Amino acid sequence: MADLEGNIDSKDYGLGRPQETPGSAIKGAGQLDYGMRHRLSRIFGDDGRTVMLAFDHGYFQGPTSGLERVDLNIVPLAPYADALMATRGIIRSVVPASADNALVVRASGGPSILSELSNEQIAMDIEDAVRIDAAAVAIQVYIGSEYETQSVQNLTTMINDGMRYGVPVLGVTAVGHQISRDARYLGLATRIIAELGAQLVKTYFCEEDFEKVTAACPVPIIMAGGKKLPVLDALTMAYKAVDQGASGVDMGRNIFQRKVPEAMIQAVRGVVHGGLSPEQAQSMYQELSGGLAE
Ligand code: R5P
Repeated sequence: MADLEGNIDSKDYGLGRPQETPGSAIKGAGQLDYGMRHRLSRIFGDDGRTVMLAFDHGYFQGPTSGLERVDLNIVPLAPYADALMATRGIIRSVVPASADNALVVRASGGPSILSELSNEQIAMDIEDAVRIDAAAVAIQVYIGSEYETQSVQNLTTMINDGMRYGVPVLGVTAVGHQISRDARYLGLATRIIAELGAQLVKTYFCEEDFEKVTAACPVPIIMAGGKKLPVLDALTMAYKAVDQGASGVDMGRNIFQRKVPEAMIQAVRGVVHGGLSPEQAQSMYQELSGGLAE
């Protein structure tokens, strides 16, 4: 009994101090439900930024260069990524369940590179997203393309499903061939996606007025990588994007198509989380790759 009395005496109810309710370093996430925030916090670091590694390309273009063997070429990169963006097929067959990355699972699909890409449908249900422990699901949105409305409906349907289970939706701005990737278009597409309820948006960087695109989007924008660029150009693009308000990057080919992808993803990480300049990160790449220029 004496021990018990001691315990009671040591209790601290913090009388006089209001309870602190944790906010969120993640843009626009402060008022989301707990499960949704918990999942988002697996995607983003404490700094509110993420390095997401995209290797979902096979869902419409088959064995993309650098992704022929995901087990050999991509799995070793996982320790350097906060989040992995992939299809459920690749995740279940190749990505070790012991990996502690957040999973952003591709949930739209349908057409291949041989047909009209905007003609996508929802390609997995929300229960399977929960089953695979997705931190978010990704839906392609084709603003201005032939099947714009259908792709927007894919997004809103998945957002409704995600709200039921606490699973965030990453809306991906898919830019049709005839459309220019300028701030006017990217601002239109990202804002529409956020207004419709996506908790995250992935979009391309543009040299002019990208900060206006991020400013007008109330949820995190994650910069898409795009085709492979020279190392310094890719690192500069990542640097400018986060400097102008992006909450991180989702890069694929600019990482996995390098001769030493491990070096590139660490250099990208240095920019996003470590505050490195593009030039410092390029030096890091060269050092880690054994002196490679590209
Ligand atoms: C794009 O919208 C798809 O998700 C891609 O498969 C992927 O994210 C592209 O990555 P990257 O352009 O950096 O190779």
